[in-house]
Amino acid sequence: MTNKTYGPKTLAWGKLEKKASLLSSTNIASLFVGDPGREKTFSREVEGFYFDFSKQHFDAECLTYLLSLAEQTNVETGIKDLLSGKHVNNTEDRPAMHTALRRPVHTELLINKKNIMPSVKREHEKMRLIIDKLHSGQLKGYTGQTITDVVNIGIGGSYIGPLMTTEALFEYKTTDVKVHFVSSVGGAELSNVLDHIDADKTLFVVCSKSFETPETLINAQVARDWLYSVGGNSAIEAQFVGVSSNSSAMDRFGIVAENRLFLWDWVGGRYSIWSSIGFTLALTIGWERFEDFLSGGREMDEHFLMTPMDENLPVLLALIGVWNRNFLNISNHAILPYHDRLKFLPAYLQQLEMESNGKSIRRNGDLVQCDTCPIIWGELGTNAQHSFYQLLHQGTERTSIDFFLPVFSDVTTSKHHDIVKANCLAQIWALAEGDSKNHSAAAHQHCSGNRPSSLLIFEKLDPKTLGKLIALYEHKVYVQGIIWDVNSFDQWGVELGKFLATDMQRILSQDQLDDSSPALQQVIAKLRQWKA
Ligand code: F6P
Repeated sequence: MTNKTYGPKTLAWGKLEKKASLLSSTNIASLFVGDPGREKTFSREVEGFYFDFSKQHFDAECLTYLLSLAEQTNVETGIKDLLSGKHVNNTEDRPAMHTALRRPVHTELLINKKNIMPSVKREHEKMRLIIDKLHSGQLKGYTGQTITDVVNIGIGGSYIGPLMTTEALFEYKTTDVKVHFVSSVGGAELSNVLDHIDADKTLFVVCSKSFETPETLINAQVARDWLYSVGGNSAIEAQFVGVSSNSSAMDRFGIVAENRLFLWDWVGGRYSIWSSIGFTLALTIGWERFEDFLSGGREMDEHFLMTPMDENLPVLLALIGVWNRNFLNISNHAILPYHDRLKFLPAYLQQLEMESNGKSIRRNGDLVQCDTCPIIWGELGTNAQHSFYQLLHQGTERTSIDFFLPVFSDVTTSKHHDIVKANCLAQIWALAEGDSKNHSAAAHQHCSGNRPSSLLIFEKLDPKTLGKLIALYEHKVYVQGIIWDVNSFDQWGVELGKFLATDMQRILSQDQLDDSSPALQQVIAKLRQWKA
């Protein structure tokens, strides 16, 4: 990697630093006064989204420099590399091909000289077959009862993707089969679910790319024992489906061949909702609508590939994020949806962004010379207004924000949604302008404003729009990874904790303390003392 293609080493980076220093004497409200056409300059209407970023703390010159930054870090080449299957995941020497899962299956895509599209088609068809059988009532439990409940067991991307999307598109459901999600290894989630289902009417779907994740395996084993105790092997054979890249582990677990859905090593966990990991989503909304969801992702891919940087939504989102993180030094970014069905979107984007770009090492092994992913957090907007918005308006920490607002909501009466819309707009304006127009005399009531945000409006939260929205953020993350020069597709940072947890389990189960540190020994001694 040459200096020219790394954000902090580019000419544009230096210009942006100077701009940030100049703009520190301005605020968002004054930028509106100085530029009457600002809302036009800083908004785009593309791919069914209206993206308003006029309330960012920057000006037209900044945007020009940010676009130069994209050019100087070779973002366009990076986009082509991603979509054509180059080994962009360099630490694991493989491509990141989640976009293949939403491509037209008749196209050809060569990975290591082999066309992968027939295998994508095969696995989607296999998933569809099981789902069709569930819908038609042909898929029976071991006693011949129709399946009424499906339990998704998985964690990380094998949980939050299915959960977020199934909830988001609940209004589009085409089946009465109920879905449940178990991820935590704490035990309460699983026992809550087991208490409310019938053993002979429930299908368990074990989602784990590796089929080695302890939390998932423990939950799956407990569920299997529970089912086995009433129905033996025939129940396990009839009522367990697996989704994994590890076929032999699924086999050892007892999942029969026709219930094994395959995942490829070139799909990262947090990018896997487009694969059979999306089983609960496809089951809930039906195959046609699942295809609409895929086509939304595909349309965003095409937009990402074909559109000039200045109109390219993922690129613009990424550049605004870089501006806030690296030049305004804003360390945290809030995801605030104004639609009840998007309540798990903040958690979904938290994994997508922080697991992808929460890194300090460049692709060439050097230490990064700039900040990378901010802390991503959030909550349903209207609920959060009554908890942490206080800090957003008056706290010492500045937060950058993405607001999400559909024009129509299938969920509520129009009266509800009108209130939701009014709240969203009121917050955006209050955060940007503060109380400059309704000035309050009392210091403790004063809201200074100048808190940057973007607003993404879309007509309604349907399958295609959700597909576009997810792909939009996947690509935003990738562009930021290019500029910061980190590999967005590995997650080595989670490995140490996993390894130590296994070690701790061993230490905790022994009577003797081993040679661990005195501080650890003291905690373990206390745990034992209180347990006795
Ligand atoms: O520990 C992190 C992680 O590897 C995530 O990237 C992944 O989504 C999750 O664990 C679950 O992994 P798996 O699907 O292999 O069980």
